[in-house]
Amino acid sequence: MTETLNRQYYLASRPAGEPTTANVPVREVPLPALGAGEVRLRNLYISLDPAIRGWMSDEPNYIEPIVLGDVVRASVIGRVVASAHKDFAVGDVAMTMGGWEAYTQVQGATLNKLDETLGIPLSQFLGVLGPTGLTAYFGLLEIGQPKAGETVLVSAAAGAVGSVVGQIAKMQGCRVVGMAGSEAKCNWLTGELGFDAAINYKTCGDYRQAIAAACPDGVDVYFDNVGGEILDAALRQMNRFGRVVVCGWIASYNADEVPHLKNLWQLVARSVTLRGFVVLDFLERFPEGVAQLAQWVMDGKLQSREEIIDGLDNVLPGFLRLFNGSNQGKLVLRIPEE
Ligand SMILES: NC(=O)c1ccc[n+]([C@@H]2O[C@H](COP(=O)([O-])OP(=O)(O)OC[C@H]3O[C@@H](n4cnc5c(N)ncnc54)[C@H](OP(=O)(O)O)[C@@H]3O)[C@@H](O)[C@H]2O)c1
Repeated sequence: MTETLNRQYYLASRPAGEPTTANVPVREVPLPALGAGEVRLRNLYISLDPAIRGWMSDEPNYIEPIVLGDVVRASVIGRVVASAHKDFAVGDVAMTMGGWEAYTQVQGATLNKLDETLGIPLSQFLGVLGPTGLTAYFGLLEIGQPKAGETVLVSAAAGAVGSVVGQIAKMQGCRVVGMAGSEAKCNWLTGELGFDAAINYKTCGDYRQAIAAACPDGVDVYFDNVGGEILDAALRQMNRFGRVVVCGWIASYNADEVPHLKNLWQLVARSVTLRGFVVLDFLERFPEGVAQLAQWVMDGKLQSREEIIDGLDNVLPGFLRLFNGSNQGKLVLRIPEE
């Protein structure tokens, strides 16, 4: 591939269930000439996020669906290889909304320049110091409002968002219980991350009994990353004036129908608040969030794990790992520099 051609994975048709190579084929297209104010990035990292599955569908969402024929949308970090914008020079590194593609060409005004000299691995700006870290930070602290001594339950707890939620909840003085899909993930939560208990939801049997056993004083904050039957079970264990933070429903992203929630009445019975959010609700406060997350990382109070998959051609199989739980932490695709 030369710099005259771009390699792109694009949305040819809307998936029913898990996206396939028929839904997301690859193509090579000529790179357009650089327009006024535009910058061309040679992508180094592409963020693989569950939300992308939602953007592939035409259901109403917090941003527009991906238009059929367009490259699959994703946050990217790339090196500037051509610039018609005064603030960006060849060699700079920047982050923007791009796609599953080798090169992203956008208006310079949409780019955030990253400082490589800080010694922070660039991929962390897609994870703990980026969208997933910020989702955990604002979702837990602003929507969940945890207080010292309360019990916080988090699902997909060993993932990019969940693992940060649990560690921040510990810093608030809460008792923290995580749910995850393997013994190894559960051991990581209770070992290295200091969670008080972990539930392997794939082997625990009845979810409600497992949550009750792990949360003997009930649940004050449930940070919901998965929805479905785990959410329904958690609703039964909520304490009075508890808060359910609806962050994501990954259990349903590839399903035709969202499972019926039998326990919604508990919102009334226990005066529970259930509130959804998207991290973009807090856009104006991102600098504050990044500064606090970075401080915790530097102080050794916040750990993160990421899994890096090499090669643009692995983007779709890599993405699907989010849905079978084989990713270990923030999932990022890397396109190594030659
Ligand atoms: N509201 C927002 O602004 C916002 C922003 C970012 C992310 N999110 C949401 O946050 C959630 C986590 O995202 P992430 O980026 O941190 O991904 P992640 O947790 O790193 O990866 C997804 C994990 O979800 C678990 N999972 C997959 N299918 C599941 C199922 N059917 N039931 C239970 N668990 C399942 C798997 O872990 P196990 O091995 O434990 O099954 C998998 O590793 C997603 O729902 C995502 O949409 C929301």
